[in-house]
Amino acid sequence: MVFVDACFGKKTPYTPIWMMRQAGRYLSEYMKVRQKAGSFLALCKLPELAAEVTIQPVEILGVDAAILFSDILVVPLEMGMELEFVKGEGPYFPKPIACEDDLATLDIKRAYENLKYVYESIKIIRSKLQPETALIGFCGAPWTLVTYMIEGSGTKTYAKVKKLLYSNPAFLHKILAKVTEVLKLYMEEQIKSGVNAVQIFDSWAGALEKSAFFEFSWRYIKELCSHLKAKYPHIPIIVFPKGVSGYLDEINGDFDVFGVDWSTPIESAKEKIGSRYVLQGNMEPSRLYNKKAIDAGVEHIVNIMQNNRHIFNLGHGILPDVSVENAKYFINLVHEKTKI
Ligand code: CP3
Repeated sequence: MVFVDACFGKKTPYTPIWMMRQAGRYLSEYMKVRQKAGSFLALCKLPELAAEVTIQPVEILGVDAAILFSDILVVPLEMGMELEFVKGEGPYFPKPIACEDDLATLDIKRAYENLKYVYESIKIIRSKLQPETALIGFCGAPWTLVTYMIEGSGTKTYAKVKKLLYSNPAFLHKILAKVTEVLKLYMEEQIKSGVNAVQIFDSWAGALEKSAFFEFSWRYIKELCSHLKAKYPHIPIIVFPKGVSGYLDEINGDFDVFGVDWSTPIESAKEKIGSRYVLQGNMEPSRLYNKKAIDAGVEHIVNIMQNNRHIFNLGHGILPDVSVENAKYFINLVHEKTKI
C-alpha cells in the first residue's frame, strides 16, 4: 500500500493524501446515512452504516486511505459514562468524573467488550475496500479523553482538569493510567480486526505547559505506542498532538509518523523532527474555501517536503461547510503535483 510505505519513509510514486474528518457533514451522502441511522452515536454503533460512510470519501474524493468512522469518545462511553451529542454544541457527559468512586465505576473489560461494534465495522470496511486503500484505526490520547471525562464537555479554560493536575496529580495519573489500559486493548483489537495503521489524536495537548505536557500527556502516548509497536511492528503509528510546536525537538517515541497541525510551519517541523519521523499534514483547513488558496497552500508544502517522508493532510479536520468540489480539487492537485 502506497500509504503504508509512505508511513515507513519508503519512496512512493506520489505523496498519499487523506483528510482528518473526511467522512462528515460536508458530504450530502454522509448526511443521508446519518439520517437513516437516527443520530451520530447510533451511526457509530451500526457497523454496516459506519462502513458505508467510511468508504464514501474514498469513492467520492479518491483519497489514499480511509479512516474508521467512529469517535474518540466511544471509549469513555463504553467504560460506563453517559454521553450525549448536543446539536451545535458537541459532546456532553452529564456526569463527569469528580472523585475516586466515580472512577471506580468505570470498567476496563466492559469497555473493551462493548466496543465490539467498532471491531465489526473494521471487518466489514476491510472486506469492502480495494486492497490498495489503507484503513486507519484511531483513538483519542489519554490526556484528551480524560479532559472530556473530567470537564464533561469542550472547555476554553480547562479549569476542572487543571485544578486536579496541580492539586491532586496522583488522582489524575490514576485516571490516565486506567484509560491507557483500555486503549491498549482497544487498539490491539482494532489491529486484529484489520486496520493497516493507527492514529492517536491528542487534540488538547496544546493546553499544557511543557513540563505538564510531558508528564500528563506525552508519557501515556509513548506508553501506548511502545505497547503496540512491540506486538505489531508492521502497523504504522501516527501521533497527532495538537499545539506542541514549541517542543518538537524533544518529542520521541515508538511511533512512525508525526502529524503536524496547521499552526506549525511545515519547514520548522521538517527541521526539528522530519529527519527522525515521517511528517503528516499540514494544510490550513480554511484554505479549502478557495481554489487559489488551495493552489498556494499545496505549492508551499510540496516545495518543502518534495514527495519525501511525507503524507499529505489538512492540519486539522475538514470544515463542515467546505464544498465537495474544492475537496476533490485539493486531492487531485496533490496527486498531480507530487507524482514522479
Ligand atoms: O476523521 C474521520 O472522518 C473519522 C471519524 C472521526 C470523528 N471524530 C467523527 C465525528 C474522528 C477521527 C473523530 C475524532 C475526534 N472526535 C476528535 C479528535 C480530532 C479533533 O477534531 O481534534 C475529537 C476532539 C472528537 C470529539 C468530538 N466529536 C467533537 C468535539 C465533536 C463535535 C464537533 C463537530 O464537528 O460536530 C464530535 C462529533 C463528530 N465526530 C462528528 C463526526 C463526523 C460530527 C457529528 C455529526 O454531526 O454528524
